Amino acid sequence: MSDPSSKPLVLDVRVPAQDFSYQVRVGDGLLARLGAELARGREPGRVALISDSNVMPLHGPTARGSLEAAGFSVSELVIEAGEPSKTPERMVELVRGLVDAGLGRHDVVVALGGGVVGDLAGLVAAVFMRGIDLVQCPTSLLAQVDASVGGKVAVDLPEGKNLLGAFHFPRAVLIDTSVLQTLPDDELGCGLAEMLKHGALFSGEHLEQLVEQADEIYARERSLLPRLVATSVALKAACVSRDPLEMAEAGKGRVLLNLGHTVGHAIELVSAYELRHGEAVALGLRATARLSVAKGIAEPGLEEQMVAALQALRLPTALDEWLDGERGAAVERSLRHDKKRADTTVTYIALAGIGDPRTIRLPPGEIMALLRGGAVR
Ligand SMILES: NC(=O)c1ccc[n+]([C@@H]2O[C@H](COP(=O)([O-])OP(=O)(O)OC[C@H]3O[C@@H](n4cnc5c(N)ncnc54)[C@H](O)[C@@H]3O)[C@@H](O)[C@H]2O)c1
Repeated sequence: MSDPSSKPLVLDVRVPAQDFSYQVRVGDGLLARLGAELARGREPGRVALISDSNVMPLHGPTARGSLEAAGFSVSELVIEAGEPSKTPERMVELVRGLVDAGLGRHDVVVALGGGVVGDLAGLVAAVFMRGIDLVQCPTSLLAQVDASVGGKVAVDLPEGKNLLGAFHFPRAVLIDTSVLQTLPDDELGCGLAEMLKHGALFSGEHLEQLVEQADEIYARERSLLPRLVATSVALKAACVSRDPLEMAEAGKGRVLLNLGHTVGHAIELVSAYELRHGEAVALGLRATARLSVAKGIAEPGLEEQMVAALQALRLPTALDEWLDGERGAAVERSLRHDKKRADTTVTYIALAGIGDPRTIRLPPGEIMALLRGGAVR
């Protein structure tokens, strides 16, 4: 059972370019307060509660009950769980669902689910009547610490992921860590990879806490999760507030959040998505540590430190399986098509140490050579 007496942790995320800020509330059992939170400062109207086929049966009734208790009229819209639902077709269907449900300009979309629901429902809110209010209620750890904060919303095209999207900042983000009780362990691990990334980029203390408390995290220790999640969100939020629209010059803004993603994304593609995104990012984080040492940016020992952290968090570390032979060649080809590629070099986020990121540019061939040559045996 949740502890309704526990106070939520509240973070303000500033969007300076739009003179706007939104609150992220993090706590155990917060979903039961969704209606009351939404009713603050607005007349109860219509809400489209968008979720997926896994999450709606588990957590939809709590969200709906709380919204209705606060006087909102709720229409549920459910998509099939999984990335294949993040399409323009599904987006248009949902927009038409909002029309059918009678939503107007002053009504609200509530996204209840993982990053797929958050991105898809977020884009629906961005385009319906040229944009209506969006409240993110992320239910996967990855969505809680990453996807729900920062305002990026999108669907995929056959040509690539997230190619049709927008910035649409939420009115509020409500993170109920108690919903993680029903999240499968491997999905929890994917969120932990992003939390580890936030620690590696901005806070050695956060990284150490994750490693030390890994077993309690997997046990879904309720007294622990809100603070850890809030810390990770605060680290990401500080970064996106410095660069809300991803316009900052290299090394200063959101581009840092690509740590571990250049090689990670290439491996994810070559695995034909057999590796989950977070598992591929875990390998990408090991690659970053190795490359940073091989390039002389970091002191020796960083790779061993990263591997120990990944193992503690039950994440994969078998990077070398992806560097040689057919697979290695495919990873290199994929790097050459990295969307951040300019001319023949790739923007790469390296680490001088934990909490000390550096942006460098490297040709894909050199990335692979450094990774192959710098292996810790
Ligand atoms: N907008 C951004 O800034 C941003 C950042 C990172 C990732 N993303 C996007 O997020 C998506 C990945 O997010 P994800 O990993 O959450 O995927 P997801 O939404 O597919 O969720 C993963 C799985 O967990 C299930 N699930 C979610 N919460 C649950 C719960 N509490 N209990 C039981 N099951 C639950 C879902 O139904 C799904 O099967 C990708 O599409 C990615 O592009 C967006």
